[in-house]
Amino acid sequence: MNGSITAALRGTGCSVPDRVVPNDWFTSHVETSDEWIRTRTGICERRFVGPNETAGTLAVTASRNALAAAGLTADDLDMIVCATVTPDHMCPSTACVVQAALGCRTIPAMHLSVACTGFLYALSVADQFIRTRSVRHVLVIGADVLSRTIDLTDRNSCILFGDGAGAVVLSATDARGHGIRSVKLFADGSAGSIGADKLIHLPAKVTLQQPPPERQRNHIWLNGREVFKFAVRRMIELTQDAIDECQRLGVEIKLLIPHQVNQRIIDAALEQTGFPADRVMVNLANYGNTSGASVPIALDEAIRGGRAKVGDTILLVAFGGGLTWGSVILTL
Ligand SMILES: CC(C)(COP(=O)(O)OP(=O)(O)OC[C@H]1O[C@@H](n2cnc3c(N)ncnc32)[C@H](O)[C@@H]1OP(=O)(O)O)[C@@H](O)C(=O)NCCC(=O)NCCS
Repeated sequence: MNGSITAALRGTGCSVPDRVVPNDWFTSHVETSDEWIRTRTGICERRFVGPNETAGTLAVTASRNALAAAGLTADDLDMIVCATVTPDHMCPSTACVVQAALGCRTIPAMHLSVACTGFLYALSVADQFIRTRSVRHVLVIGADVLSRTIDLTDRNSCILFGDGAGAVVLSATDARGHGIRSVKLFADGSAGSIGADKLIHLPAKVTLQQPPPERQRNHIWLNGREVFKFAVRRMIELTQDAIDECQRLGVEIKLLIPHQVNQRIIDAALEQTGFPADRVMVNLANYGNTSGASVPIALDEAIRGGRAKVGDTILLVAFGGGLTWGSVILTL
């Protein structure tokens, strides 16, 4: 490989827990209804982990599925990057948990904490290592178990989340017009709060000496209304920017895979950008918001379901806590 190198998608996999939690389940905890949740979010059910499952166990299964799809073994991997905000431990990282379970060589392994944009950041890290020819095959994972953080007395947030993991293998290629074509990543910590109130907040168990009294439990908290506005704005910007970028590249976006949060966020962005709804992958009804796992699970389902084929250019868009947001354009 003497010419320029890009990172191509070689295989995908995912894993979700067996336990299905329908909307009605929440009516025994908070004042809500299946009808409200369906119409205001598009979510019908989600999966919750059992007592012996973690982001790590889901990540291991998703990774095995991705390796099988790629036709590679754990021994072929040169690096593992895992996006999660619900790691099994602060240390060892969830990437090291996966590395040990798969029986990899002593390859570098790290996890990144970027909330719902995490998988795109992880793809970008892998892409950079591949482009500089430091590595050939990288396992990139998004895995989260937000059910472990929900406050079952807060109807504004508890109904939104589900658990899961998605993984891909990225491999170096010199085939022109394939692989990751463009990556745009953003973060704005100052926009993540109104006054002292974070728009999306998951407390640190270990490091924060004095959490605010109302947040002393380990629950996720969010300002849904403000996050909704932020998400629509960023999804419009990212999609419009990618449409322009693809025009410059001379390719057409065959499939848009957005972070799965709320059908109304997706609809609002499509209305503004004019992007056709039949070219958008949405599986939110079945899984809710699985944070870092949402984009790679949807990507895996799109490929296995035949909605994205070799040669297609796809756009991944995500936004979330931090605040963070970003996009990746990828030709399969
Ligand atoms: C959370 C979200 C679904 C709320 O939908 P919304 O249409 O914005 O609803 P609002 O916050 O304006 O609340 C409308 C009413 O519904 C109520 N409500 C909120 N959750 C409810 C629930 N689960 N069931 C029934 N009623 C509910 C509110 O209390 C409010 O009642 P009020 O008018 O009497 O005060 C929506 O804002 C959202 O999806 N936000 C982004 C989610 C997010 O932050 N994800 C994580 C990061 S990507």
